[in-house]
Amino acid sequence: MKRIAIMGSGNGSNFEAIVKYFSGKPDFAVDITCLSDNVNAYIIERAKNLGIKYKYLPFEQNGKYFAVNNFDLIVLAGYMRILPDDVLNLGKFINIHPSLLPSFKGKDAIYRAFEAGVKVSGVTIHYVTSDIDGGKIIAQYPVLIGNLMHFDEFENEIHAVEHKLYPIVIEKLLKDEVFDFTDLVGSCSENCSGGCAECH
Ligand code: GRF
Repeated sequence: MKRIAIMGSGNGSNFEAIVKYFSGKPDFAVDITCLSDNVNAYIIERAKNLGIKYKYLPFEQNGKYFAVNNFDLIVLAGYMRILPDDVLNLGKFINIHPSLLPSFKGKDAIYRAFEAGVKVSGVTIHYVTSDIDGGKIIAQYPVLIGNLMHFDEFENEIHAVEHKLYPIVIEKLLKDEVFDFTDLVGSCSENCSGGCAECH
């Protein structure tokens, strides 16, 4: 059975989406551990409610923890600290970021992309390096920004794409499968640029 750790500091909606995705796949069992550096984070409440094992892991203890706990993949989902190389060398770490990297690295990416007036933004999943949001890109998915779109609507679309994309990419990585963009969009039309009902 594959083992993954999901690390988050806050809300945990991606964590919940990943847990629900794999709980609907009894033929591919994944053992999930929730790790949070914030003892009050809502992600811990979600883990309790979903029956997933969880641990409060202070930032300073990451090295010691990952030296003795092995995971096939360590998934950052709203983890708010920058992990140093000596920790990153202890596993395969991936992250999700709510923009089309390398644009809009760092905090408040959804808002900054919207304020900049970009017409296409989206979601990126990438390997983690100590260069913030700078690791090699694994997958991306676009979200179009119409001129009449309200910020809240755009933000909701970004999160909806995150919740759909992250579990699929995690599964592909755990299965060591090569995948292309079209594998992520499923059977929607080849003319779709991300706005169809299936994609959102
Ligand atoms: C997501 O938007 C993710 O892209 C970013 O932090 C947010 C985490 O949200 N890295 P949640 O905690 O999964 O709800």
